[in-house]
Amino acid sequence: MSHRILEGKRGVIFGALDDQSIAWKTAKAVADAGGKFVLTNAPVAMRMGTINNLAEETGSIVIPADATNMEDLENLVDKAVENLGGKLDFVLHSIGMSINVRKGKHYTDLNHDWMAKGWDVSAVSFHKLMQTLYKKDAMNAWGSIVGLSYIAAQRTFPNYNDMADNKAYLESIARSFGYFFGKEKKVRVNTISQSPTLTTAGKGVKGLDGFLHYAEKTAPLGNATAEDCANYTVMMFSDYTKKVTLQNLFHDGGFSNVGVSQEIIDALDQS
Ligand SMILES: NC(=O)c1ccc[n+]([C@@H]2O[C@H](COP(=O)([O-])OP(=O)(O)OC[C@H]3O[C@@H](n4cnc5c(N)ncnc54)[C@H](O)[C@@H]3O)[C@@H](O)[C@H]2O)c1
Repeated sequence: MSHRILEGKRGVIFGALDDQSIAWKTAKAVADAGGKFVLTNAPVAMRMGTINNLAEETGSIVIPADATNMEDLENLVDKAVENLGGKLDFVLHSIGMSINVRKGKHYTDLNHDWMAKGWDVSAVSFHKLMQTLYKKDAMNAWGSIVGLSYIAAQRTFPNYNDMADNKAYLESIARSFGYFFGKEKKVRVNTISQSPTLTTAGKGVKGLDGFLHYAEKTAPLGNATAEDCANYTVMMFSDYTKKVTLQNLFHDGGFSNVGVSQEIIDALDQS
């Protein structure tokens, strides 16, 4: 599949925890397409994960950063630019976490301190990251910044809990910051709204298996896999999408525009 469309481009990839992570598959796809990058994750995740194997495989270095911490982000951006030998062309924000989801708290009984923490990690970190890149003038013109989202930002999925609100906020930040990044620096900012995917973050959502199958039977093309998402992101980082910005791009096999599929009708038909 590789066409080396990222040859000569440099970037930063957040969120590769293990080989199931969307960011992990993206790092491999970006490397195959010729891109060079720095890998990063929260220091605590690094102890749990196997990111060094990925770094070795892709010829990258790893710089830890908690995406909610401005000092960490500043250090990361400075070191990434220094190490890669110039300003950045692409950044992937592939970060999500809800303590309420993790601890099985119902949406009608949320712990609001946990809600605030999840919002900071899953949504505000996107603003913190872009503010750091913007102030340091660390992106090249026609660079591309991508965040990962989910359709629960627009439609109700009861078990997605407070992550639905975080994703709505994340998508709004992409539009708001994307305006200024576009006007002032010719950098594009988009979110990709991905199908449900079996990853560590995905598995935390109660009933994921059920709605993974529901989505599979609803989408005319079936669910998009993490590898499909990685390939789509490579295209979004490439010069083929130079004028795409401020968008929430559904990458879901068509799920978002289907009312109901014949398979679901057949499964529920009682006549
Ligand atoms: N899995 C799905 O079904 C699905 C669907 C649509 C969108 N997404 C989104 O895709 C993105 C990647 O998730 P994934 O499914 O690959 O799961 P994942 O668990 O592999 O990745 C989530 C990452 O967020 C990182 N992270 C958490 N707190 C952090 C912090 N403070 N600083 C820096 N990094 C931190 C984790 O260490 C982990 O690497 C998330 O934004 C997620 O919401 C996932």
